[in-house]
Amino acid sequence: MEVKLKNNEKTVFICSSCGYNSVKWYGKCPECSEWNSFEETVIKKEPLSKSKTSKTMTAHTSVASTISSIQFPEHIRLKTGLSEFDRVLGGGIVKGSAVLLSGEPGIGKSTLLLQICDSVCKYGKVLYVSGEESAAQIKLRATRLGVNSDNLLVLCETNLSEIMPEIDVINPTVVIIDSIQTMYDEDLTSYPGSVTQVKQCAMRLLNKAKANDMAIMIVGHVNKDGAIAGPKVVEHIVDAVLYFEGEKQHAYRIIRAAKNRFGSTNEIGVFEMVETGLSEVENPSAMLLSQRPRGVSGSCAVCVVDGTRPIIAEIQALVSPSYLPNPKRMSSGLDYNRSSLILAVLEKRLGYRFSTQDIYINVAGGLRIDEPSSDMATALALISSYKDIAIPDDVIVFGEIGLAGECRSVSHVEMRINEAVRLGFKTIAVPHRTLKNLKKSFEGVKIYPVRSVFDLLKLIDA
Ligand SMILES: Nc1ncnc2c1ncn2[C@@H]1O[C@H](COP(=O)(O)OP(=O)(O)OP(=O)(O)O)[C@@H](O)[C@H]1O
Ligand SMILES: [Mg+2]
Repeated sequence: MEVKLKNNEKTVFICSSCGYNSVKWYGKCPECSEWNSFEETVIKKEPLSKSKTSKTMTAHTSVASTISSIQFPEHIRLKTGLSEFDRVLGGGIVKGSAVLLSGEPGIGKSTLLLQICDSVCKYGKVLYVSGEESAAQIKLRATRLGVNSDNLLVLCETNLSEIMPEIDVINPTVVIIDSIQTMYDEDLTSYPGSVTQVKQCAMRLLNKAKANDMAIMIVGHVNKDGAIAGPKVVEHIVDAVLYFEGEKQHAYRIIRAAKNRFGSTNEIGVFEMVETGLSEVENPSAMLLSQRPRGVSGSCAVCVVDGTRPIIAEIQALVSPSYLPNPKRMSSGLDYNRSSLILAVLEKRLGYRFSTQDIYINVAGGLRIDEPSSDMATALALISSYKDIAIPDDVIVFGEIGLAGECRSVSHVEMRINEAVRLGFKTIAVPHRTLKNLKKSFEGVKIYPVRSVFDLLKLIDA
């Protein structure tokens, strides 16, 4: 059916994955290479503003000011009652800021936002706008989480023209939108969840929040690749973008900031999903090591630094003879290409024949490691499994591997060693170049310098 366009309207095709727009339809997006992602949308042509057409320098209202004369408002931080969440936000929710929280379905986004309401309600009213669940469902969850404040107001609505006046009437301190993909603006012809709707709704809500100096927390769904579904533009206009991660089969959840205008993006918050909601894990290292098998080959401890916090994790490798023409390779929690590089270095430098083996690498506990400091531990776990020799339980290794098989330095060595000592590790293998930077000695602990992958063999007498 052909849609009749008004004079001030035109049709454009917008990629639902990245927001790229074009006057013609494409099967594959030229920007993000996604197939079949273009949606036809009717948009209003913007009239050219007078200031652009006029050549004279007459009346205009925006005046630039000197940097020294600008007054900045005090950043009042609202404590959420979950110190792990506050840490990721940079110390709490900044009044008047916009936060985008995204994650896979069922990971616990609604749980987290409802749970923090209890503490945030002490600062003023909180409006929880849900487009996905009924008021009864939210009440059920709130009862389970023990949230029951008269300052918490629930609105089950998806139409922005209903939500906006309600925000004005209530004038809350924090607005929660669960989720942006369900909201719609009736002035637009596209469906809720489409790029234009998500973009428009996010813009309108953010403008409202900034104008009323209230914080806004927006839930955004992720697509199958883990990116926030809808236009990237939402990421640009909010102050912080948080990703809620975790393996479905584990109770552990990690929140990390991909962007934060009011804090570091390196911090992570670790939680465990329990009956009463998300409980904070203050000692993630002990949690990750709690189920470590003893005396079994292929398990190696590593210390990674996420933000300012050292975390001890366990890398597991399983190398077993393959009966397939193309042996299997699987890497979970570690970058696949990085794992392939480590395998190639071990093949070349130590002469191992991995081409006849199926190889599985996993970071226990559902943690994802992006740091190259885990290279040496991955290599040692692979060697241990290949040779079927267990790594002693009190050995921990960290260091980056270069293509020549050399062990390269990593940052925060002392911090990593301290954490390893705290958890009872007695042999700590570190890149040899970092030894001279160590300011203090560690009693009762053997610091083992590693020059190359050859040195790893001595750790397990291989
Ligand atoms: N009684 C319970 N005990 C423990 N965990 C529970 C319980 N009920 C729900 N959960 C956990 O809460 C999760 C659902 O949380 P929540 O609804 O907040 O997720 P969500 O990210 O908002 O999902 P969606 O994207 O579907 O809205 C479940 O996957 C489950 O792990
Ligand atoms: Mg939800």
